[in-house]
Amino acid sequence: MEIDRRAFIASLGGTAAVSLMDSETKADSLEHWMEEQLDEQVAANQAGQPEKFPTVAEIEAQIETRNYRRGAGSLFVSGRGNVKKLEPMPKNPQLQDFFRLRFAPANHVLQSATRALKTGMSEEIVLACLLHDCVLNLIKPDHGWWGAQLFEPYIPEKSTFAIRYHQTLRFYPDSDAGYEYPDQYFRIFGEDYKPPAHIEATYKMLKNHKWYMEPRLVTVNDLYAFDPKAVVSIDPFQDIIGRHFKSPKEGLGNDNSPSAHMWRTLANPDQPL
Ligand SMILES: [Fe+2]
Ligand SMILES: [Fe+2]
Repeated sequence: MEIDRRAFIASLGGTAAVSLMDSETKADSLEHWMEEQLDEQVAANQAGQPEKFPTVAEIEAQIETRNYRRGAGSLFVSGRGNVKKLEPMPKNPQLQDFFRLRFAPANHVLQSATRALKTGMSEEIVLACLLHDCVLNLIKPDHGWWGAQLFEPYIPEKSTFAIRYHQTLRFYPDSDAGYEYPDQYFRIFGEDYKPPAHIEATYKMLKNHKWYMEPRLVTVNDLYAFDPKAVVSIDPFQDIIGRHFKSPKEGLGNDNSPSAHMWRTLANPDQPL
């Protein structure tokens, strides 16, 4: 952990360089799980001082300091330097090919799904945890809805429901279920952030829904603490994918499903039109 942290901070130009970065520059330069990792470590480095979270106004003031928007999917923005050439997808790409060639390293979702497996979640929830943030490679705003749409033609209804609504429930603590509001949300949304009306309305709907616990269990297993020693792989999930992910034989993107275009965009993010 120690060695990894030093190597990681060094890769960003050292502690001094990191301390000069505003939290958004750091956050946007990293994969989803790495954002959490670095922020927590920088906070820990400040020798016991309570972390000062930005306000909504401070976060808004950063918009014009970037040459991209925060909502761009990770495949479309390089954290450092230029983007890299992507390996082409196989002819009939399956979910595992997207994990290997477009979602990698996918540590955040793999670790969340591993936790779900260990804590005895249903197979629908393990699958939802495995897929819940994959769409962040395509687009970030409203990622619950986008993610549910991407996977809906292929997975059980409960998994789709869990993916769609985990985004909403992330804003609302439920201590009985073991879920607290994440510090990371103070960092990336602002300490005085209030979720927009559609999120509030969705939360109201979910509170009385018979499937409330499906997305709630995704939030409970939504892990950010990255353990560099943990070996994560898609292998433990092959059986669950086989049982619950209806892979089209033509390959994802070639099957004319309602979300085929989204898979093609993930396969070919360099297309100019
Ligand atoms: Fe998420
Ligand atoms: Fe997540």
